[in-house]
Amino acid sequence: MKEIDISSNIKGIQLSSCIMNASGVLCQTKSELKNLMKSSSGGIVTKSCTIKSRVGNLEPRYFEWKTGSINSMGLPNLGIDFYLNFLEKSNTDKPLFLSISGLSLEENYLILQKSSFSSKLSAIELNLSCPNIGENILCYDFHKISDYLDKIFHIYKKPLGIKLPPFFEDSHFRKMASILNKYPLFFVTCINSLPNGIVIDIHKETVVIKPNQGFGGIGGKMIKPFSLANIRKFYTYLRKDIPIIGCGGISSGKDVFEHILCGASAVQVGTKFMNEGISVFDRLNQEFFNLLKKKKYSSVNDFKGKLKNFNKI
Ligand code: SIN
Repeated sequence: MKEIDISSNIKGIQLSSCIMNASGVLCQTKSELKNLMKSSSGGIVTKSCTIKSRVGNLEPRYFEWKTGSINSMGLPNLGIDFYLNFLEKSNTDKPLFLSISGLSLEENYLILQKSSFSSKLSAIELNLSCPNIGENILCYDFHKISDYLDKIFHIYKKPLGIKLPPFFEDSHFRKMASILNKYPLFFVTCINSLPNGIVIDIHKETVVIKPNQGFGGIGGKMIKPFSLANIRKFYTYLRKDIPIIGCGGISSGKDVFEHILCGASAVQVGTKFMNEGISVFDRLNQEFFNLLKKKKYSSVNDFKGKLKNFNKI
């Protein structure tokens, strides 16, 4: 029997495991990033950064329950110079994905300009889907996003992927994919949290987070059907050379399998990482390995994107 290999490859970026962290969770500070470097995460994604450091929104700004999480963090981060300096000095074999989320095109230009000198970055993950900063989510404006990406790809020629918000309508998936297909994208990440959720404490009769009247991005187990659908739709409509990184609702090896079956090349873990800590990667790697063994698959490429329709079974 062939050896079982849970590694993956994103356009030449080799991940020792197809499972890594999602931007935003325990990847903001030096100690959190060092912890990730020591872990069995297949790659490292940083907290989305801005040009200057930000403290983010008022607390409480994160709340978790059995099947999900809500957050309105407001992009707390240590600023681009911190991440570039830290990564430049780091000594790790893991691929490094710098997540960036400038609040304007000009800010992203500056961040990209600084990042272009880094020798350590495997790729940039451009976060165009943060639901918590009071602006409309850029990816939901099909007119603006085309122009925005024209400008970004005009100035930045190194590996760059985009983190997308969830879409819900077939016409929107088609439209967004037709826009993305025009660019030399390194990957897309599907999906950021579901924007504008609300969670209620029934005893106090209040919302559970302070910022933005309690509205925030929903993540965790309960969003998995939407992340799977977004992966599947984009796998169908995007150019075949644009890899998809799945994100949303991963808490077991089975969830990793489902993301890859829909077409993801790798996956990111957010809420479950927050809840379980760094050992989540050991557990997920083991569960995913065991599942491949049971199903007699030897690598992610054996089943990636091969989800069957019901009537073909
Ligand atoms: C935040 O910092 O508000 C979350 C970032 C994101 O969801 O993109």
